[in-house]
Amino acid sequence: MPQCVCPGSFDPVTNGHLDVFVRAAAVFDKVTVAVLINKTKSSLFTVEERIEMLREVAAPYPNIEVDSFHGLLVDYCRDRGIPVIVKGLRGFGDVDYELQMAQMNHRLTSVETMFVSTNPLYGYLSSSLVKEVATYGGDVSGLVPDSVLGRLADRIEERRAGS
Ligand code: PNS
Repeated sequence: MPQCVCPGSFDPVTNGHLDVFVRAAAVFDKVTVAVLINKTKSSLFTVEERIEMLREVAAPYPNIEVDSFHGLLVDYCRDRGIPVIVKGLRGFGDVDYELQMAQMNHRLTSVETMFVSTNPLYGYLSSSLVKEVATYGGDVSGLVPDSVLGRLADRIEERRAGS
C-alpha cells in the first residue's frame, strides 16, 4: 500500500499511539505522523516538543516520518498526495466521533479513513488521562514511551513550581 497519515494532537504521544503507527507502518510503505497545530487549544507540550518526542520514538522505524499541519487534514493529505488516514479505535466511545470525521473527510476530498483496532492493553489510554494521572502523582510508566516519561515529570514539576 502507498502512504498514509496518522493525525493527532499527541500531547504527549502514548504507547497506544505508537502501537497504531507501527502497525500502520507494517502495512503502508510510508506513514506520516502529523501533529495538529491548534493555537486555540492549550497543551502541555509545544508542537516542537511533541514533534521531537515523536521523532525519538519513531526513530527505529525507517518508514515513519513526523510532520505538523494546520487547517484541514484533507488539505494536508491532498497537498502531499496522501490517500489514506489511519486512526486507532479504542472502543465504542470512539466510534461516533471517528465515523463523523471519516465521513466528513471523505465527503470533502474522497480521502479514505482506515481504522486499526487498538491493542486491548491500551484500550483505556489517552493523552488526557495520562496527563491527569501524572499530574496527581500516579504512575504512568508503561503507558508512554520511556523517553516521554522524564519529560512529562519535568513539565508537570515546572508547571507546579510556576503556579
Ligand atoms: O488527537 P486528537 O486531538 O483527537 O486528533 C484530532 C485530529 C487532529 C485528528 C482532528 O481534530 C483533525 O483532523 N483536525 C484537523 C482539522 C480538520 O480537518 N477538521 C475537520 C475534521 S472532519
